[in-house]
Amino acid sequence: MSKQFDVIVIGGGPGGYIAAIRAAQLGFQVACVDEWKNATGGPALGGTCTNVGCIPSKALLQSSEHFDHANHHFAEHGISVGNVEMDVGQMLARKDTVVKQNNDGIQYLFKKNKIAFFHGRGAFVGSSDTGHTVQVSGAAEETLTAKHVIVATGSSARALPGTPFDEVNVLSNDGALRLGAVPKRLALIGSGVIGLEMGSVWRRLGADVTILEGLPTFLGAVDQQIAKEAKKAFDKQGLTIELGVQVGDIKVGKKGVAVAYTNAKGEAVVLDADKLIVSIGRVSNTTGLNTAAVGLALDERGAIVVDGDCKTNVSGIWAVGDVVRGPMLAHKAEEEGVAVAERIAGQHGHVNFNTIPWVIYTSPEIAWVGRTEQQLKADGVAYKAGTFPFLANGRARALGDTTGMVKFLADAATDEILGVHMVGPMASELIAEAVVAMEFKASAEDIARICHAHPSLSEATKEAALAVDKRTLNF
Ligand code: FAD
Ligand code: NAI
Repeated sequence: MSKQFDVIVIGGGPGGYIAAIRAAQLGFQVACVDEWKNATGGPALGGTCTNVGCIPSKALLQSSEHFDHANHHFAEHGISVGNVEMDVGQMLARKDTVVKQNNDGIQYLFKKNKIAFFHGRGAFVGSSDTGHTVQVSGAAEETLTAKHVIVATGSSARALPGTPFDEVNVLSNDGALRLGAVPKRLALIGSGVIGLEMGSVWRRLGADVTILEGLPTFLGAVDQQIAKEAKKAFDKQGLTIELGVQVGDIKVGKKGVAVAYTNAKGEAVVLDADKLIVSIGRVSNTTGLNTAAVGLALDERGAIVVDGDCKTNVSGIWAVGDVVRGPMLAHKAEEEGVAVAERIAGQHGHVNFNTIPWVIYTSPEIAWVGRTEQQLKADGVAYKAGTFPFLANGRARALGDTTGMVKFLADAATDEILGVHMVGPMASELIAEAVVAMEFKASAEDIARICHAHPSLSEATKEAALAVDKRTLNF
């Protein structure tokens, strides 16, 4: 006997659990199916983001940054701490606690919103007059039917062909977040977001880190002035990043991994490392979903095909987050989840893809929203640019972190903000002002005329906006 719901959500990551909550708020009877298991086999809601993504990586970034500060920056404040030691086990235990708090928080939210949760794998069975039917297998064995199904099954790490993840020597994000000891030599392939964040964690803890990147340009999607500034900082920290390499054979032995590659000069090199993290992007999860049973269209990368409203080719089936096109970001998944629930309710759900912020949580942090200078040039848009360095910001000096800058790009004729790019302290928080400004179609002058607290890092944002009109006050 199939259990009838108004909405079934497959996947309990940020796309799925937020869609389920919003649908429940709108008065629907909602079921959410998620298969993630914690260490004891119980449910662990929150998907990649909570279990092996955003949350645990930020926990380790915080711990390793404290360690780095204690080692290298406390002395300048007059604080001596003697021999600083890192207890990796305690760091991981803390990270696990933070993850569990988030898992439990989502379970509580499901109860609060009366969402029926089924722990197991969801697979389509077919469609009929009563809706689409989903079979749940695992801890829960149920058949569910609903007129509307939201697929939010997320993504998994992409492996290098011929080198599967063993999570002992060859690590995905999962293994990279639970290394029991600091490796002496750590190799990473891919200097994208995960490569830089995970490379930073283990470098701060003492590993000798080398990142091999296939492309000749560092952070090609980032405004290149910002990327260059970030690269300078990473070089200074001792994070070795080799660009333009071609990775060849990878030999995994008892004692570690040997990565053969051709460097940018065409020389053959072998990099010996104790551990290898492969961070070369992610693939959408549709395996085991039995999409064929309902005729869901997939693209050539295996992602579910959707339109701008997250509608699939099958009426009543929607898809959001990493399993569809667009940036693989938790907040993008959440926005799509909310918008879809509202569309099911007949409302006008809305996601502005032009104002989705990006943050790379390294030190310095890198954050941006809107178009880069390279994109504006390529699009033939006439623009004005303004930058302001943290070196000239009083709060940054007091913090002892003056690396980087804020950069504004505004339309040459109308002064509308087209992009804001940052590298520096707390860029992850500062970017929110730029997102709000762009969402409200503000001009650079609007930000320049707003009173910002002193001393604050946000004054660098105001000054960069003033710089668009060549009238910074403090530089
Ligand atoms: P997911 O979070 O992947 O959730 C999908 C869920 O569906 C999972 O629980 C999965 O088990 C379940 N599932 C899959 N198939 C089925 C099925 N058939 N039946 C039942 N359940 C199923 N993004 C940011 O915005 N900020 C960050 O700081 C950030 N850091 C990251 C760090 C790392 C190391 C990684 C790997 C990713 C990071 N991301 C970050 C990306 C972010 O995690 C993803 O964009 C986000 O999790 C996508 O959400 P989602 O709901 O689409 O999918
Ligand atoms: P990525 O797309 O950010 O970076 C992958 C890098 O690997 C690219 O620079 C690419 O050129 C390189 N690459 C690909 N194949 C290669 C090869 N064969 N040899 C050498 N280099 C190769 O992907 P990543 O870092 O795996 O992260 C996946 C996604 O997860 C991100 O794109 C992002 O959407 C999300 N994420 C977001 C975070 C955040 O918001 N702070 C943090 C971590 C992940």
